Amino acid sequence: MEYRLRPASELDCEFLFMLHSTTMRDVIETTWGWDETWQRTDFDRRFAVQNVSIIEATSFDVGGLWIEWKPDSLYIHEIQIVPDYQDRGLGTAVIQDVVGQAASRMLPVELSVVPANPRAKHLYERLGFVMTSVESPFIQMRYDAHLG
Ligand SMILES: CC(C)(COP(=O)(O)OP(=O)(O)OC[C@H]1O[C@@H](n2cnc3c(N)ncnc32)[C@H](O)[C@@H]1OP(=O)(O)O)[C@@H](O)C(=O)NCCC(=O)NCCS
Repeated sequence: MEYRLRPASELDCEFLFMLHSTTMRDVIETTWGWDETWQRTDFDRRFAVQNVSIIEATSFDVGGLWIEWKPDSLYIHEIQIVPDYQDRGLGTAVIQDVVGQAASRMLPVELSVVPANPRAKHLYERLGFVMTSVESPFIQMRYDAHLG
């Protein structure tokens, strides 16, 4: 599926927080418990400092991508696709493009996943990410595509 990224603005915050609440609630509930006020405060803090993009497909806002260019890696903090657009290859395409961008700068891509989200972990493994460490509850993963 074709998509494009556009930088998120303050106007996108409600969509992004709704997306976070819809797609991550079960995983967060299982891992830490869901505290709406804490989630909103943490969301606002992260939105202020991270590089956030809206994923658009078929002229709709269908996802969010939160990344950070670090000195020695590109870190994917979050990727979320609205439920109606999941399982259609969009997440794969976005992650592969991010990996390609990082590789062109000779950088690996890093991310983390929690055990309560086994499908996402399986997806990352299928794409080439390998586990590098466990900092409970986070499983750290990396893809060294730039090393060939
Ligand atoms: C994980 C996610 C970004 C993948 O994007 P996608 O467009 O659905 O993925 P694709 O269609 O390219 O690939 C399908 C893969 O996604 C997995 N997937 C589908 N729905 C999922 C969901 N709700 N949660 C986690 N993984 C999911 C499938 O199991 C499949 O994995 P496999 O290829 O290893 O069998 C998307 O499903 C999503 O937003 N999930 C909910 C939020 C989340 O878990 N985000 C990741 C942590 S921040």
